Amino acid sequence: MNASDPFAELKRRQREMWASFSPTAMFTTPVAGQLVKFAGIVPGESVLDVGTGTGVVAVTAARAGARVSGLDLTPELLEEARENARIAGTDEIVWTEGDAEHLPYPDASFDVVLSQFGHMFAPRPDLAIAQMRRVLKPGGRIALATWPPEHFVGRMFAFVGRHSPPPPPGAAPPPQWGNPHLITERLEAHFEAPFFARGTMNFPALSLAHYRMFMERSVGPMQKLVQSLAADPEKLAEVRADFDALALPYYAENVVHQDYILTRARAR
Ligand SMILES: C[S@@+](CC[C@H](N)C(=O)[O-])C[C@H]1O[C@@H](n2cnc3c(N)ncnc32)[C@H](O)[C@@H]1O
Repeated sequence: MNASDPFAELKRRQREMWASFSPTAMFTTPVAGQLVKFAGIVPGESVLDVGTGTGVVAVTAARAGARVSGLDLTPELLEEARENARIAGTDEIVWTEGDAEHLPYPDASFDVVLSQFGHMFAPRPDLAIAQMRRVLKPGGRIALATWPPEHFVGRMFAFVGRHSPPPPPGAAPPPQWGNPHLITERLEAHFEAPFFARGTMNFPALSLAHYRMFMERSVGPMQKLVQSLAADPEKLAEVRADFDALALPYYAENVVHQDYILTRARAR
């Protein structure tokens, strides 16, 4: 990690906060299948997965025949990713601890750069996108899965933000990456016009309380929020009730419906 990075502290907190994420990968696994298909990965292509977490996208791309590298800030998740690759028989994936804003690869290394709910947490979108473009070969493509601000997960991040200390000035809110107008603007300098698609991540839950408990244990931003209210049980109860109210319209037939947007674009 670069010590002169003004967001070094935010990234240190991100690394700590995502360390408990691995149970959630069960639900991001089907999205990885969609993203790899949407990206049109063909055997032999070189692929980078940014914010790989436990490697669900990287392993899926490797199973599609690509030569894959996976990068993430959080070493605990990379350990899981290695284990997933071993089980899937895709041990040749190269795993690297690193930052989306400072990719440790030479220029023009990859045919495709993928990121599923990963690069959106880098505080400076322009830097992340310039890095992803830099490591792409001429004519290469990116394919991204992100959370739109108007659907449940985007609204949940806004909710957590309202109850948490403010991020450092200049850090872009992650769900901005789910707004097609902003995505188009952000990509414009480096990529041709993007193509969009949408999908839903289905999250089975026996009750909203089960869902909330899962989120509090495994999804860093929710976990941090609950920890910060440990000394104030009244406030904690209020926040939990507000969370349930936020999730309720998205919960039907024992599933929480989490809509995402897919973006694909070719490098100029
Ligand atoms: C919501 S998880 C998604 C993980 C995985 N792509 C999936 O779909 O299951 C977000 C991931 O982004 C990683 N991350 C956050 N900020 C990052 C950054 N600046 N550079 C690289 N990875 C980052 C976290 O460590 C975490 O693994």
